[in-house]
Amino acid sequence: MQMVTTIKQVKEQVNQWKNEGETIGFVPTMGYLHEGHGSLITAAREHNTKVVVSIFINPLQFGPNEDLDSYPHDIERDRHFCEELGADLIFHPTPEEMYPQDFFTYVDMSVLTEELCGINRPGHFRGVCTVVNKLFNIVQPNRAYFGKKDAQQLAIIKQMVNDLSMNVEVVGCPIVREEDGLAKSSRNTYLSSEERKAAQIISKAIFTGEELVKSGETNVGKVISTMKATLENEPMAKIEYVKVVDGLTLAPITTIKAPTLVPVAVYIGKTRLIDNFFVEGLS
Ligand code: PAJ
Repeated sequence: MQMVTTIKQVKEQVNQWKNEGETIGFVPTMGYLHEGHGSLITAAREHNTKVVVSIFINPLQFGPNEDLDSYPHDIERDRHFCEELGADLIFHPTPEEMYPQDFFTYVDMSVLTEELCGINRPGHFRGVCTVVNKLFNIVQPNRAYFGKKDAQQLAIIKQMVNDLSMNVEVVGCPIVREEDGLAKSSRNTYLSSEERKAAQIISKAIFTGEELVKSGETNVGKVISTMKATLENEPMAKIEYVKVVDGLTLAPITTIKAPTLVPVAVYIGKTRLIDNFFVEGLS
């Protein structure tokens, strides 16, 4: 497995692979890899002959009061992790490599980015769309793998690829959880041991909501109030939102009918965590 830092190096390698008829699976990440990322690399490994992982803490997607400076990183650990899972190439650029001083172009999207996490993180998805678009142009993947944990991000990337007629298949992969249910996240490392215990409440609320919908509840107000009541059992949890939205447009809905997304954002202490469940079909 190689690790490279320049755009030129990636382009040379992928051009060679393309000429040799290889198919490229791509997993964009911000590093500090865990089994959630691992599941994407494994899926990419299964479906493609070459696997590229990018590790880049993208400054464009962090707001001024967010955790850019404290975001966890350990490139040697990540390198081993990718190697174990059979990746072929890591792209680990510097911010200057990705955004030189004469960088002026951004990819913006309306509607989908204004809901949910977009409300309190203005500019976040503009940063995500810009970096993912640029990474796609560098890596030229046949398929790109994203986690359903970041459901809004996945919906936005699919929309971007469709709107801009990009030549890449976007594959969504299931949420990977810790044993107690907490969705794996690089940001879980911010939690103190007391906060880590308290964070269990988030997946409890997700599972409670999911059970309720599975048992036939279609009333959005009932699902939201039940999930909020679960979260309110934990004094350390501060709800940013619990919503029920259309699974494709992310617009608020009043009656649950598939496809529906039920996303939550919750602060545990200073750490903002997200989780969700998706209603694919109703019995
Ligand atoms: P990052 O948070 O590192 O996540 C990289 C990918 O891993 C995303 O597609 C995310 O949804 C997926 N992922 C994270 N935790 C997961 C879990 N528990 N189960 C399944 N998948 C999980 O998302 C980003 O980075 C950035 O916004 C990025 C797309 C790289 C653009 O900078």
